[in-house]
Amino acid sequence: MSATRQLCASCGGETPDTDPHSRCPRCRGLLEVRHRPPTQGGGALRALFDARLGVRRGPLASGVWRFTEVVLPAAGPAVLSYPEGNTPLLTSDAVAVWAGAPGLLLKHEGHNPTGSFKDRGMTVGVTQARRVQARAVACASTGNTGAALAAYAALAGLPALVIVPKGQVAFAKVAQALAYGARLLLVRGNFDQCLELVDQATERLGTYLLNSVNPFRIEGQKTIVLELLQQLAWEPPQWIAVPAGNLGNTAAFGKALAESCEWGLIDRLPRLAAIQAEGAAPFAASFREGFARRHRVEPHTVATAISIGNPASYDRAARAIRDTHGVVTTVNDDEILEAKAVVDAAGIGCEPASAAAVAGARRLVREGVIRPGERVVAVLTGHLLKDPDIVSHYHQHREPPPPRANRPVEIEPRLEEIERVMHA
Ligand code: F0G
Repeated sequence: MSATRQLCASCGGETPDTDPHSRCPRCRGLLEVRHRPPTQGGGALRALFDARLGVRRGPLASGVWRFTEVVLPAAGPAVLSYPEGNTPLLTSDAVAVWAGAPGLLLKHEGHNPTGSFKDRGMTVGVTQARRVQARAVACASTGNTGAALAAYAALAGLPALVIVPKGQVAFAKVAQALAYGARLLLVRGNFDQCLELVDQATERLGTYLLNSVNPFRIEGQKTIVLELLQQLAWEPPQWIAVPAGNLGNTAAFGKALAESCEWGLIDRLPRLAAIQAEGAAPFAASFREGFARRHRVEPHTVATAISIGNPASYDRAARAIRDTHGVVTTVNDDEILEAKAVVDAAGIGCEPASAAAVAGARRLVREGVIRPGERVVAVLTGHLLKDPDIVSHYHQHREPPPPRANRPVEIEPRLEEIERVMHA
């Protein structure tokens, strides 16, 4: 029997790990990857992962494939790695003080090859595409998934189709998809419509779907949590804060934590804090009602990456929040932009959606949910340069200037002008 199988979350049906369907072939429910528990105990598994930290070449040098045994043990020679992961876990006094959380750490996923955490899911997703001998790959995206898919498809020599909502994707992400050679479709609609469209198109065209409904993407994204636990010497933090849009990451984090506990990597569960933008917060609305029903909204937020009204991984993310005794909260666009200005000015930098995690941590501290002494890891999901238009607007053009605006000064080419400005 293979070490890995796929299980339908809706009907419970089982599918082999090399079945190419992106949903359950019987009921179209979401599939989940299940691995046979590793044969080693927790201590031996930790030692195995730690011993690979010095590896410099080949898949084991990747911050995803270092954890092969709990990601995709059967991947073998199909592995396609940039490599990715190995992202820093940072501290910043300025950000910690602003958030009111002295124990705040920032896991910076913007340090991945295409500038976001999506590369972790995509290395596994495109590896799986090779295992099932896909002829082409496709996704809908608010930008980062598309950039990652385009890059990894190019590395694999596979044609890629990327479908995005026209006018709602940050400039650099569109540029990446084009540069890496994907076929890019600009849809006159929102992300939720793009996702529905690509779901139908992949069935009709026989392309392999690589949105986070694909359970192999989730396996890759689990390694954000595994890697941060390893960086903390397997001593779990009290909280992990993550921005939440389509909810793939929230689901992946819940799965990583549940498995890490089950397989003895850690002995205590951190609590998950999923942070949504106020104008795109269907999951937070559900959370307030104890997940009694699913909500859909027409999304509006400056954080275009998480401008999603009908998240695909709703059920599995709800389970992640329940299982970790987690919370879901919202932050408004002004809070997101202020958090971003603080993270940027600390020399760290991130894109707007990522700043939502920091703004959310601050809100939870203020509400007394996160206590001052607790250790919080906020995940910065994407790089500062993903959305330069927002930066330019905030610092140069907004009227009145926001409190943290850093206005450039235009001068004549004369030394006295510099002196005048510097002494002002
Ligand atoms: N942060 C960034 C930078 C993202 O790009 C995304 C999602 C999220 C957070 C939210 O993660 O969807 O797993 O809840 N971006 C997707 C995309 C939707 O198409 O790039 P999620």
